[in-house]
Amino acid sequence: MIMEQNILTELKDNILYVTINREKKLNALNKATLAELAEMVTYAAKTEEVRAVLLTGAGEKAFVAGADISEFSSYTAEQGTELARIGQAEVFNAIENSPKPFLAAINGFALGGGLELAMACHIRVAAESARMGLPEVTLGLIPGYGGTQRLTQLVGKGRALEMITTAEMISAERAEKIGLVNYVVPLSELISKAEEILNKIKQRAPLAVAAAIRSVNTAVTSVGFATEINEFGKCFATQDFKEGVSAFLEKRKANFKGS
Ligand code: COA
Repeated sequence: MIMEQNILTELKDNILYVTINREKKLNALNKATLAELAEMVTYAAKTEEVRAVLLTGAGEKAFVAGADISEFSSYTAEQGTELARIGQAEVFNAIENSPKPFLAAINGFALGGGLELAMACHIRVAAESARMGLPEVTLGLIPGYGGTQRLTQLVGKGRALEMITTAEMISAERAEKIGLVNYVVPLSELISKAEEILNKIKQRAPLAVAAAIRSVNTAVTSVGFATEINEFGKCFATQDFKEGVSAFLEKRKANFKGS
């Protein structure tokens, strides 16, 4: 049903298991992976047997370590804006607005676009070993897949601004404490905890579950997504962005000049 090169899917007992499968690149989201995710979201929405979606990353190290930096390193402001606009529409907002509940099982690093993907899901469960953060400002960027909006909604403005401006990662324990994840469990129990939650939801009335998602989403509707897309795009026109991504790709510390 889905072109599966970068993601793996399996439908079992009405749960669609989706694994992002680029383990060597810490499951970073390149364009092909995003396209497969978009296709999967459409499939899940229209397929009656799918009552819930469990999203995780391959391996034990990463859920998703962000958008694929190597792919956008030479983007212009226009291309940056398009990257955020299309990604938000086809994947991140599509997940958030899906009539099927999505649960992110965060098995390791959830950084940048990876944490944004987890935050677009309706429920999050993390392994004790998971670490989460929005490190975009280390690259001369800001989160562009809804992170400035959804992190603020989940943890409040003060904590969101601290995480985004310091770019520091936080532990799973801290993430649970501030409301970023619903539960923290040992890695070996991650999938069973996720299944325990989804097995409850899938017994409930599907139309009512979809109505609940629509209603809860409306409570936190924000015009800030458009601001984020615009600001994200503008970052690509800065010298700091060029310095930030070059430093990452060359495995050295960035030296920002504010230009
Ligand atoms: N985009 C592209 N490639 C990425 C990536 C990303 N977001 N995150 C990791 N990778 C790649 C690395 O370049 C490396 O590839 P290589 O083996 O071909 O050199 C591979 O995945 C393994 O990562 P590495 O950095 O060697 O692992 P580590 O254990 O030393 O560090 C992290 C792990 C998560 C701390 C580090 O990979 C990292 O900081 N990633 C980027 C996080 C980020 O800024 N995300 C936001 C993007 S908007």
